Amino acid sequence: MGKVYVFDHPLIQHKLTYIRKNETGTKEFRELVDEVATLMAFEITRDLPLEDVTIQTPVSESKSQVIAGKKLGIVPILRAGLGMVDGMLSLIPAAKVGHVGLYRDPETLKPVEYYVKLPSDVEEREFIVIDPMLATGGSANEAIESLKKRGVKQVRLMCLVGAPEGVEEVQKAHPDVDIYLAALDEKLNEKGYIVPGLGDAGDRLFGTK
Ligand code: PRP
Ligand code: URA
Repeated sequence: MGKVYVFDHPLIQHKLTYIRKNETGTKEFRELVDEVATLMAFEITRDLPLEDVTIQTPVSESKSQVIAGKKLGIVPILRAGLGMVDGMLSLIPAAKVGHVGLYRDPETLKPVEYYVKLPSDVEEREFIVIDPMLATGGSANEAIESLKKRGVKQVRLMCLVGAPEGVEEVQKAHPDVDIYLAALDEKLNEKGYIVPGLGDAGDRLFGTK
């Protein structure tokens, strides 16, 4: 079964509090999501493999380390996942970016796919699917399924806020996928919103409420 990691770094938790607040407006919300995505990128890349290199400093030769050329891909789930892309790219600029477009049907809460575009070398890359919200898990499961259908071998899922129900659904459907969160919340409400959550992430990011 996939593991669940909750990033408890104080800066992540502090910024998440302001993201959650009802009175936080679109501009600040977007900036904070971007900053938290950068901090989460720092945490999720802790296990990237390193290789030894020998370099010359101004003083002497030095045995140092660089990242061992692991190829990464980032896949935001449209729309709200877009708000986390730039923050991640600021730390891992060489990552390629794919897109999966999904929306939740407001009646059935089931995801409807409307767009998919991935880098061409999918089999050689490890992908991080990103979305601020993991609610019922339907969108994440559909996005991961869509990647796997196109040949992706390694996937992680990174979200700001997860509900226990969504975590369980992803673990059931994709036991090979680890989940990375800034917070694991209490539950879903009857409309499929995460409680306490942060409301509709897409609307708050893009001001479409
Ligand atoms: C939101 C969110 C996730 C999805 C989570 O997107 O960004 O993609 O809901 O819900 P789930 O786990 O129950 O599937 P939404 O469908 O509102 O689309 P948007 O990003 O275009 O606003
Ligand atoms: N999608 C959101 O944007 N927010 C939720 O709480 C649940 C799904």
